[in-house]
Amino acid sequence: MYSLGWMLCAVCYVLFAYNTYAQGNAHDPCLSPTTCGECIRVPNCVWCSHTMMSVQGNDSRRCQLRDLMTYCPLESLVDPIPVEKILVDIPMTRSLRIDEPTQLHPQRVSLTNLRQGLVHNISMQFKVVKNYPADLYYLMDVSHSMLDDKNNLVRLAGSLVETMRNITTAFKMGFGSFVDKNVIPFVEKTTASCGPRSLPEIGCSVTYSFRHQLSMSADVNEFTASVNSTSIVTTFDVPEGGFDALLQAMVCKDQIGWRERSRRLIVFATDAHSHLAGNGRLGGIIKPNDGLCHLDPENNMYVEALNQDYPSLGQISRFAKDNDMNIIFAVTNDVAPSYLKFMELVSGSSVAILGPDSENIVELVRETYEKISSSVEMMDTAGPEVKVRYYTACTGTLVQENNKCGGLKVGDIVNFTISIEAIECPVNVSARTPTIQIKPVGVNEVLTLDLEIVCDCGCEKPGGPGFVANATECNSVGDLECGVCDCDSLHSGSNCECSADVNIADLETNCKPDNSTNVLCSDRGNCFCGVCECQKRPNPTEVISGKYCECDNFSCDRIDGNLCSGHGDCNCGQCLCYAGWQGSDCNCRTTNETCIPIGGGDVCSGNGVCNCGSCQCSANSNGRYCEDCPTCPSRCDEFTPCVQCKVFQTGPYSADNEAACNSECTYSIITQETVQVEETSERECSYENEEKCTVKFVYGFDSNGARRVRVQKEPICPEPIPALAIGLGLAGALIALLLFALLCYRIATYFYDKREYARFLNEKKNAKWNTDNNPLYVNPTGTFRNPTYKL
Ligand SMILES: *[C@@H]1O[C@H](CO)[C@@H](O)[C@H](O)[C@H]1NC(C)=O
Ligand SMILES: *[C@@H]1O[C@H](CO)[C@@H](O)[C@H](O)[C@H]1NC(C)=O
Ligand SMILES: *[C@@H]1O[C@H](CO)[C@@H](O)[C@H](O)[C@H]1NC(C)=O
Ligand SMILES: *[C@@H]1O[C@H](CO)[C@@H](O)[C@H](O)[C@H]1NC(C)=O
Ligand SMILES: *[C@@H]1O[C@H](CO)[C@@H](O)[C@H](O)[C@H]1NC(C)=O
Ligand SMILES: *[C@@H]1O[C@H](CO)[C@@H](O)[C@H](O)[C@H]1NC(C)=O
Ligand SMILES: *[C@@H]1O[C@H](CO)[C@@H](O)[C@H](O)[C@H]1NC(C)=O
Ligand SMILES: *[C@@H]1O[C@H](CO)[C@@H](O)[C@H](O)[C@H]1NC(C)=O
Ligand SMILES: *[C@@H]1O[C@H](CO)[C@@H](O)[C@H](O)[C@H]1NC(C)=O
Ligand SMILES: *[C@@H]1O[C@H](CO)[C@@H](O)[C@H](O)[C@H]1NC(C)=O
Repeated sequence: MYSLGWMLCAVCYVLFAYNTYAQGNAHDPCLSPTTCGECIRVPNCVWCSHTMMSVQGNDSRRCQLRDLMTYCPLESLVDPIPVEKILVDIPMTRSLRIDEPTQLHPQRVSLTNLRQGLVHNISMQFKVVKNYPADLYYLMDVSHSMLDDKNNLVRLAGSLVETMRNITTAFKMGFGSFVDKNVIPFVEKTTASCGPRSLPEIGCSVTYSFRHQLSMSADVNEFTASVNSTSIVTTFDVPEGGFDALLQAMVCKDQIGWRERSRRLIVFATDAHSHLAGNGRLGGIIKPNDGLCHLDPENNMYVEALNQDYPSLGQISRFAKDNDMNIIFAVTNDVAPSYLKFMELVSGSSVAILGPDSENIVELVRETYEKISSSVEMMDTAGPEVKVRYYTACTGTLVQENNKCGGLKVGDIVNFTISIEAIECPVNVSARTPTIQIKPVGVNEVLTLDLEIVCDCGCEKPGGPGFVANATECNSVGDLECGVCDCDSLHSGSNCECSADVNIADLETNCKPDNSTNVLCSDRGNCFCGVCECQKRPNPTEVISGKYCECDNFSCDRIDGNLCSGHGDCNCGQCLCYAGWQGSDCNCRTTNETCIPIGGGDVCSGNGVCNCGSCQCSANSNGRYCEDCPTCPSRCDEFTPCVQCKVFQTGPYSADNEAACNSECTYSIITQETVQVEETSERECSYENEEKCTVKFVYGFDSNGARRVRVQKEPICPEPIPALAIGLGLAGALIALLLFALLCYRIATYFYDKREYARFLNEKKNAKWNTDNNPLYVNPTGTFRNPTYKL
């Protein structure tokens, strides 16, 4: 799990690094480190300790990806690269000498300057040499059930030695025997006791825990004699105290005579279970085993047997590993299961089933030895700060991560690539220079690696190159470390120029408009104690200004290379135009004068707007002053007063207001006999003067847009009216009217008279009085029939 985690991390990191490399910023891993030490702890970041360097901005950062660090002088670049040095390597040829056989090359390597997160490969070879020394210690249970085994071993010793000599000539054997602690209940009697069947071969002897009987010897007869002289001992309980003996055999190197460089085998031959740590309590022994050698130099007996408990399996395992012991548990079938469990716990151990009477002991030892000597398995003592990986093709060609090779023959060379990765920078400084032992399991040879993980820069340490105490660059109140000032407690700032009561973070925030950016002083100045000091330009008329150096007076719009067209001042990127000019580049006039037609008139003839000194005409007009507009309403009324005053001396600008006439009527007004429209832009106008005569004129524009008026000299008057005819007509009409009135009167009186007479006649007919008797009536003498009245 642990290594998987690290692998994932590494993959992530690679992707991350790739991304940042591809994008160039955003998650730049070299952005956040502020000291040289922090910088070099990020793989691929390098530090520039050049003192004159401006640390502001992007392209001059001190901590930068290696590929982008193009601006740092080589001698100021801090980029530790691992240095591998082979300190000890006994040449291969010498390993053929029997007295100094060496299988592992090299023996000591130093690796310095290894950066955190970096992998360095070291190559190592393992050569299976001929006649590599082998030491075999035969540790035998001599309780009474092992009598046959003992006799057989005496018989087979010669064959065992011959077989082993066939494999390696440098073969030595030793012998030791064990029974159990001489304390009840492990024994029947603590004094000499005789066997149950009182066989003569067994005899009576005192039980002992461990007796070392023969130190490593090349002489087979010594071995045979030593085994033969061993007496068999009677015990009470079944488990025996063999682990006491096993531990002593491993740790008592001098007495046993283990050679410094050899394969070490211990054959642990028993037919019984073994007592383990804690069992000693049965006999009242509670002191734990201390794991030290306690052999009596005189008779080579284990002297602490009655004081110390049996060793634990953990102790057995540790000492087997530390002393490169290969333990062969040569046990009988009935007890094999428990020893198989031990085998799993004890490194480099194996279990061999002992036949009845140990007949097969020679074969067992040979097989086991060949198995362990034909394989190599690498292990190391690296701590958590270092990851060691092994790559090998063994004897083949496919290199893969693997620390184990089997099936080796004498003369084979296995090449290992050992990749050393510094995973972290330990806080404990002494853990940054660990010594790592890399060794094959079960072989007392080691490759010692003196590692140095580099977590700091030399220029950060007093006395190191590039370290200047009380440096002038730091105003003599700080030390110059890797080009950066480390100020005393009273000062801060990049050159220790600021007082310490404001922290650097605050200082920097004052040098940028907000925290959306990391760019100080707009990248055009240095932040000194929270104040931007803007860069000077080579051209003295170009000045950078503003709180964040955000302004300048040279980057405004230009026309033909002239800043603000030469009609304004550049202020913070904006043109401030002189009077009379406007626009972003001050290239526009503010007056309308140039939009007024020559000789006066409306701006753009009233048909457009004046923009930047020239007319923008509305859709239906054109011309420089938009004067040409066939579809616009006529402008006759505008011209009439001038025609009146200039040509006829009448109208609102007439003679008594000559000044108005002169000022308003500045354009050309000419008179012609007759006028008519001659160009499309011309318009015809007319008006009626005081004499009821029509004045006709035409207006138009010349090529400059100036107005022109042509007036017809003579107004057009109507024909005079005939007065006499009108008078007579009127008189005639009057008379006719009078006559008509007379006639009407006469007609009216006639009808009136007629109606009166009729009324009279009607009264007379109905009168009481008789016409004959009327005294007033005188009958006329005449022939008139009708009466006549005397009036
Ligand atoms: C910083 O440097 C990177 C890599 O050179 C570049 O892509 C980026 O534009 C630079 N940024 C600025 C603000 O100069
Ligand atoms: C180290 O060796 C292994 C195996 O040959 C290889 O895969 C790896 O890339 C090497 N690492 C370095 C940093 O050379
Ligand atoms: C030792 O090796 C020789 C030759 O290889 C062989 O003849 C002999 O039998 C071997 N002896 C033993 C005990 O294996
Ligand atoms: C073993 O010892 C006995 C006497 O203790 C002797 O008779 C016998 O010959 C010895 N055996 C060997 C192989 O030396
Ligand atoms: C092992 O490495 C050595 C040199 O380092 C080389 O000569 C030899 O061929 C390599 N052996 C194998 C099996 O790769
Ligand atoms: C650092 O490690 C060394 C050896 O591992 C140890 O002796 C020492 O006490 C440790 N120091 C601290 C401060 O932990
Ligand atoms: C640096 O200055 C401090 C205080 O001013 C002083 O104590 C120290 O001795 C000086 N160190 C050197 C190397 O001049
Ligand atoms: C800027 O910093 C202020 C104070 O530290 C914080 O409140 C604010 O959220 C920050 N704004 C941004 C955009 O990071
Ligand atoms: C910029 O400003 C400086 C100082 O105000 C002035 O001397 C210089 O002439 C200005 N430059 C331009 C191009 O206006
Ligand atoms: C220029 O003409 C525009 C309309 O076209 C008017 O709004 C503006 O006041 C005039 N400016 C001057 C200085 O006459």
